[in-house]
Amino acid sequence: MLKTKIAVLVSGGGTNLQALIDAQKDGVLRSGEIVLVISGVEGAYALTRAENAGIPTAVCSRRDSVSQEAFEASICRELEGACAELIVLAGFMSILSEDFTRKYENRIINIHPSLIPSFCGKGFYGLRVHEAALDYGVKVTGATVHFVNEIPDGGEIILQKAVEVLPGDTPEELQRRVMEQAEWVLLPKAAELVSAKIAAGKGE
Ligand code: GRF
Repeated sequence: MLKTKIAVLVSGGGTNLQALIDAQKDGVLRSGEIVLVISGVEGAYALTRAENAGIPTAVCSRRDSVSQEAFEASICRELEGACAELIVLAGFMSILSEDFTRKYENRIINIHPSLIPSFCGKGFYGLRVHEAALDYGVKVTGATVHFVNEIPDGGEIILQKAVEVLPGDTPEELQRRVMEQAEWVLLPKAAELVSAKIAAGKGE
């Protein structure tokens, strides 16, 4: 079977990217193959993780681009150069326009560290998501992998996993638990699910 070619877009430490790399090694991710890692930030540790795994890398920075169009054109060039068929957003911090998400409809997935539709949308990123969950007082939170469309965190849900909030949790502790118990398990599973579908659609 021809594997689905995956590009992973990152901006930070890349623990979710690492989970994908490990899943590929362990055979959890078997219908897809990571062919490219694009970072929105120069020097992101995620780039080192990719290099250590022998995966080609590129940097496309919004700040160093003259416009959103130029920024997205540079991403598209990299994606096309690598013949990427599935885009995984794994902590990618730059906004992608409707033009971009339309172009790759049902081909972009994202991991969000809450149970959508709670604590998601504009302004809910990083630690803020966990701060909001703690402020509200929910006893269960989690992570969601969803398709990306023009609405922030608004695309169709692919997989979700719940995680307990414990008394006295700090945002950092909760963030860590959500990553360990949900994100690092869920993202590889979802990448496999979608990769398998794309691969099947190729008739292989
Ligand atoms: C994760 O919490 C993910 O849910 C969010 O950004 C963070 C990325 O962390 N979208 P890492 O770079 O994968 O370690």
